[in-house]
Amino acid sequence: MTIHIGAKPGEIAETVLMPGDPLRAKWAAETFLDNPVLVNEVRGMLGFTGTYKGNRVTIHGSGMGMPSLSIYANELIRDYGAKTLIRIGSCGGMQDHVKLRDLILAQSASSISTPSRGIFREFNFAPGADFDLLHKAFHAAEAKGVTTHVGNIYSSDVFYDERPDLNEQMTRHGVLGVEMEAAELYNLAARHGCRALAVLTVSDHLLTGEAMPAAERQSSFGDMVEIALEAAGA
Ligand code: HPA
Repeated sequence: MTIHIGAKPGEIAETVLMPGDPLRAKWAAETFLDNPVLVNEVRGMLGFTGTYKGNRVTIHGSGMGMPSLSIYANELIRDYGAKTLIRIGSCGGMQDHVKLRDLILAQSASSISTPSRGIFREFNFAPGADFDLLHKAFHAAEAKGVTTHVGNIYSSDVFYDERPDLNEQMTRHGVLGVEMEAAELYNLAARHGCRALAVLTVSDHLLTGEAMPAAERQSSFGDMVEIALEAAGA
């Protein structure tokens, strides 16, 4: 047990999928894993461990934003020995050619700040995905016929952004989409010798103002879970 995770030693798999929403973790575990067992419910942040094609996998919520993800990812890595961490979530599109429902595989994640700012200080560390996971996720997405983009994303500290000028600069510099967790997941993976990837569906669009209907989010979320499971080789 850790401060925020009630799982007993050995109850967390080396491969962990991390959706932001704990209820999505429950749905994904019950839909895609064999014999899912609830291993955490501290503060309502649900985690389940089961098997996929015979391999152990944990699906655990991260909460929203990098400070929340940092708590769970730190404990999963440092206390439970997680080695492969894949965020599955949504993002806002920032390019015209990136459409609603498309998939983005975050090769790198820019930020204004992350919880690791205290370590890096003046140094602009470039948080990046594990290439093997990225490569496998790309092929799994292609096999599903999902339109997929690979590139830089922006991990923001705020959902209600008051800096439209900054978003314009991101778009100008080719940033594909905005979400709130990936950069710190990549920082932590680098620090602890783990593998990480963020698999994101474009659920809304900053340039067009479109948003995906709630009913459709579930099926696109299912695609992401399968792509992440295939990428992990789990
Ligand atoms: N901003 C930040 N995070 C997000 C967004 C957004 O527009 N859409 C989905 N996650």
